Amino acid sequence: MNHPPTIETERLVLRPFQISDAPRVKELAGAYEIYKTTLNIPHPYEDGMAERWISTHAAKFYGGDGVDLAITLKADGLLIGAVGLGASPRHNRAELGYWNGVPYWSNGYCTEAAIAMIRYGFRAMNYHKITCTHMECNPASGRVMQKAGMHKEGTLVDHVIKDGEYHTMIVYGTLKDEEGASTQDHSST
Ligand SMILES: CC(C)(COP(=O)(O)OP(=O)(O)OC[C@H]1O[C@@H](n2cnc3c(N)ncnc32)[C@H](O)[C@@H]1OP(=O)(O)O)[C@@H](O)C(=O)NCCC(=O)NCCS
Repeated sequence: MNHPPTIETERLVLRPFQISDAPRVKELAGAYEIYKTTLNIPHPYEDGMAERWISTHAAKFYGGDGVDLAITLKADGLLIGAVGLGASPRHNRAELGYWNGVPYWSNGYCTEAAIAMIRYGFRAMNYHKITCTHMECNPASGRVMQKAGMHKEGTLVDHVIKDGEYHTMIVYGTLKDEEGASTQDHSST
């Protein structure tokens, strides 16, 4: 492990966040649509929250607990979302997570970023397994996992409480041995 990576794909550059990204993170992650299908993003997204989140990234990476990267457009550098891996070192696996700004949905950007992060997790971090979990009410995220070559592993019924209601979670996974099985594998590091 050296430094947080910068990863190029066909249309994207995934790069470490900088504190100067905070206003843009607040603007995009502050949308209710992002809060609605995630478990750890606050709403309302107050001033200072993005700065605090970004300031945790270095300790997370250098502590071996994973990585968070900004999804930016290669064409103009615009930050459109976030993708990350949260590691479980004891089990040599990581949990993939992502959000993409609402104006940029359904262009394949998240899938492109997810494929690149899975590749990074297996090749650079040598994880054995990468998982990803979505709320049942969020099929778009399940679609991203499928397009990134992950397999559905199970359903966790009424597994979490969000806003006072139980939600069922769908778990996907992929193993290092399966790398390359994804259908849109055009990323490069
Ligand atoms: C989930 C999310 C990251 C997807 O980002 P994205 O950039 O739009 O993803 P992609 O364009 O790569 O793929 C989305 C896929 O979902 C599909 N989709 C969109 N809405 C859907 C729905 N209601 N039901 C089923 N599929 C849906 C799209 O058509 C696309 O599939 P396709 O390429 O086969 O047509 C984005 O919607 C988001 O940020 N949501 C809020 C945060 C969140 O839920 N994060 C994930 C937590 S697990």
